[in-house]
Amino acid sequence: MAMTTEPRLDADLDRFRRRIDALVAEHPVVQDNRYTRWFAGGTATRGEVRHLAVQFSVFSHLFVEAQLRKVINAADLESYRAGKEILLNELGVVFNPGRRAGEVPPDTDPELVATEGTVDGGRFRFGAAHFEWLLRFAAPLDLGFDDIGKRRHGTPPTLFFCDELLEVYGAEDAATAEGASYAVEHWAAAGFWKELIAGLEAYKSRECPELPLAFWTWHDRVEDQHAAHTADELADAFTQPWFDEDRFLSGATRMLDGVQAFWDGLWADHEAGVER
Ligand SMILES: [Fe+2]
Repeated sequence: MAMTTEPRLDADLDRFRRRIDALVAEHPVVQDNRYTRWFAGGTATRGEVRHLAVQFSVFSHLFVEAQLRKVINAADLESYRAGKEILLNELGVVFNPGRRAGEVPPDTDPELVATEGTVDGGRFRFGAAHFEWLLRFAAPLDLGFDDIGKRRHGTPPTLFFCDELLEVYGAEDAATAEGASYAVEHWAAAGFWKELIAGLEAYKSRECPELPLAFWTWHDRVEDQHAAHTADELADAFTQPWFDEDRFLSGATRMLDGVQAFWDGLWADHEAGVER
């Protein structure tokens, strides 16, 4: 039986992979993100960098909520655990890259903490929470704890994106959620971190030398591995009884539209001269 069905399954999977990869690659937010392309040029003012910091902090903080929902709605133990790796690392459990039990990770600085390994046996450090990295980034911009990361700080496009994350990335329907995950990972690996880093480096050397960029550079490093994992995840999802091509594709599309709303919101604010 396996001899005859497997080549067919491989062909179906290849066909579907080409379809989803084309959908992601052709989406305007991957093809042409005007905001990040402009930002990479390094001309953002202090007020514009502060505005980005606040909006990004809202998405990044509320993402934790969506990740928890994804874990709760996971279709099986394996994806439940994969979701927890991201959730707990986000909250401050430092990845344990083959460290011996009981050994303390050297630091909480994102410049130094591992981007691979597992949270299993890793250590929780308050200072390793990604939100605390953002707090350190925000401090030289004169943004404190009360100024970032809360829903009340989000513009309507930012909140639309956050709500789509909750509903689609954290969906109860596994096919929808997997489609959203696939889209998010591929979007994130497509280079927007590098564009933001280029713009932030320019701003840092121009007028804010004490600005720590490790929140951004750590995420850029971790993203390269996430995208590599999604190929296996898709192959696995494709064989599950709950898998549905149309719901997977619509989850992916809806998520990319949400991502686009976020960046288009920032672009519209730039054009309108919004500063914070
Ligand atoms: Fe993060």
